[in-house]
Amino acid sequence: MAQQHGGSGQAYGIDIGGTGIKGAIVDVASGTLVTPRTRILTPQPSTPDAVAEVVVKLLSEAGWSGPVGATFPAVIQHGVAKSAANVDKSWIGTDVDRCFTAATSSGTEVIVLNDADAAGIAEARFGAARGVAGVVILLTFGTGIGSALLMDGMLVPNTELGHLELDGHDAEKRAAASVRDEDDMSYETWAKRVNDYMSHVERLFTPDLFVVGGGVSKDADKWVPLLRLSTPVKPAELQNDAGIVGAAIAAAERRGE
Ligand code: BGC
Repeated sequence: MAQQHGGSGQAYGIDIGGTGIKGAIVDVASGTLVTPRTRILTPQPSTPDAVAEVVVKLLSEAGWSGPVGATFPAVIQHGVAKSAANVDKSWIGTDVDRCFTAATSSGTEVIVLNDADAAGIAEARFGAARGVAGVVILLTFGTGIGSALLMDGMLVPNTELGHLELDGHDAEKRAAASVRDEDDMSYETWAKRVNDYMSHVERLFTPDLFVVGGGVSKDADKWVPLLRLSTPVKPAELQNDAGIVGAAIAAAERRGE
């Protein structure tokens, strides 16, 4: 493919998950994908070097050397991973920005942010939280529970509300979508747990809106109506693309594009 420098208004977004790593070029002004998504299986073990190789592969297949943003399912403070709940423990303390940037032979700068935070940015700009004033909490239900806290569309990064304590357990071990799959739970049973969890978050933050994302948001009609909360709940709208779009926005804005 011809070299794409991605000048005006475009960035490459990468969504790093436990099973797959997806990437595409994004038009940052409209939040739409300019190229189809490319998906590569996450290497096992998913060590920093192995994942960096996949990042480089995605960029070279796209011929991309413009801004690059990548999501990662852990606390990322100024580019450094500070936790590893559902990923290889070798990530803790890794400067992920530097590791990915160094892996690109051209020194293309890669910026990394928490996966739920990226989804929050994307939903605030182009999805269910667009134009919503006040406090919005996005919760993603997948292997774990991710969270993004937004105030008038501005993100407060690394909230990690999936690790609140619920019934004496780490909340994501009780109410993540993976728990429903593993225990073969009905949506009714699982929604009760999600309701307990979200009531707890509601008591702590009194948000104006909850946005619920992750793979289960495509089945939102099966469980969101079962929730009994004072706060309105909207399913995420960008679905599969939220991470890619949010990462691309973060990269473009960091570079002042
Ligand atoms: C991690 C978060 C992540 C969430 C969703 C949690 O286990 O601690 O950083 O956002 O999973 O992937």
